Amino acid sequence: MNFRITVLPGDGIGPEVTRQAVNILSTIADAGGYTFTFVERPIGGGAVLECGSPLPQQTLDSCLESDAVLLGAVGGPAFDSFEAHLRPETGLLNLRRALGCFANLRPAIAYESVSDCSPLRSEVRRGADILVVRELLGGLYFGEPRGHDPERKLAFNTMSYTEGEIERVAIVAFEKARERRRKVISVDKANVLETSRLWRSVVTRVAEDYPDVTLEHALVDSFAMQLVTTPARFDVIITENLFGDILSDEAAVITGSLGLLPSASIGGAVDLYEPIHGSAPDIAGKHIANPIGAIASAAMLLRYSAKLSTEADAIEFSIVDTLDAGYRSADLIVDPVAKKLASSTEEIGAQVKMRVADRLSSNHASHAV
Ligand code: IPM
Ligand code: MN
Repeated sequence: MNFRITVLPGDGIGPEVTRQAVNILSTIADAGGYTFTFVERPIGGGAVLECGSPLPQQTLDSCLESDAVLLGAVGGPAFDSFEAHLRPETGLLNLRRALGCFANLRPAIAYESVSDCSPLRSEVRRGADILVVRELLGGLYFGEPRGHDPERKLAFNTMSYTEGEIERVAIVAFEKARERRRKVISVDKANVLETSRLWRSVVTRVAEDYPDVTLEHALVDSFAMQLVTTPARFDVIITENLFGDILSDEAAVITGSLGLLPSASIGGAVDLYEPIHGSAPDIAGKHIANPIGAIASAAMLLRYSAKLSTEADAIEFSIVDTLDAGYRSADLIVDPVAKKLASSTEEIGAQVKMRVADRLSSNHASHAV
């Protein structure tokens, strides 16, 4: 198998966490006899400084010629004064649009061994296993017209959705629910917004094709509360772009740290995998960032784009084993004194990698007998 992955380390902690994910992918390639070709390209603030654009053409071309894209993070205070078209975030949004990835999958699992990291009581979070399906190419992020009119002292954005945009992401949510606990909750603001009323009616129509999946609707304000009061009740959550951005960060409270959460943006010409955390410029280069979000994103890449589910399982089990064995990066340690004894980014990466290699070699051994 020949598999080309464009790696976009980006800004802040992006390079250090993606390095750990790439190491583990290399281990998997060696173990399975696959050829993974990694092509590294600039994106975000670093790309503006290097090439004058947050998404240089050669970066986009490489992504489009790849089987999958693995991204670290973009942004940072050094770039906040850049004009809109040069902002690092614009690079990421343009990339998502150019690839056509309309469905963003953000799983959040309440790992038992880090239950002390969540501010939620353990009986509240226990068993929570959620998949947020966020629409990624519509809504306020991309709606036109948009702009800032200093003379009139106003700025504006447009929230718009077509039936087709809603339908295609709803289908992804229902398909994913079939692989899980067959429950979908659609989150909107249908008591106020026309886009949400359309959203609700299209999702309800799509649900008719999935009689084995139960569908509920919720308003985003009350849902934001339910997500942290009764998280174990939910399975697949489907919602529009901005609500999904906000609710997926909120879902991180259930897991215990934003640093644990991966994502897959699918449905396009080439799919894009990235941890949901940002560039965390305050801790960049200090070797304390949690690489698990990036490593778990690599697992999603193997599962969805490379169709290597045994290898994806090996990574996901190894993450749980590493946490169970007590290895924790600083974000997973509450006590400020104990934080000083945290495992480094590299140590966590090496622990997961060692367990992945062990699991794959025992798989091969069991196939041999
Ligand atoms: C995310 C991020 C991005 C988003 C930013 C960096 C553009 O917050 O992936 O959740 O808003 O989608
Ligand atoms: Mn976000």
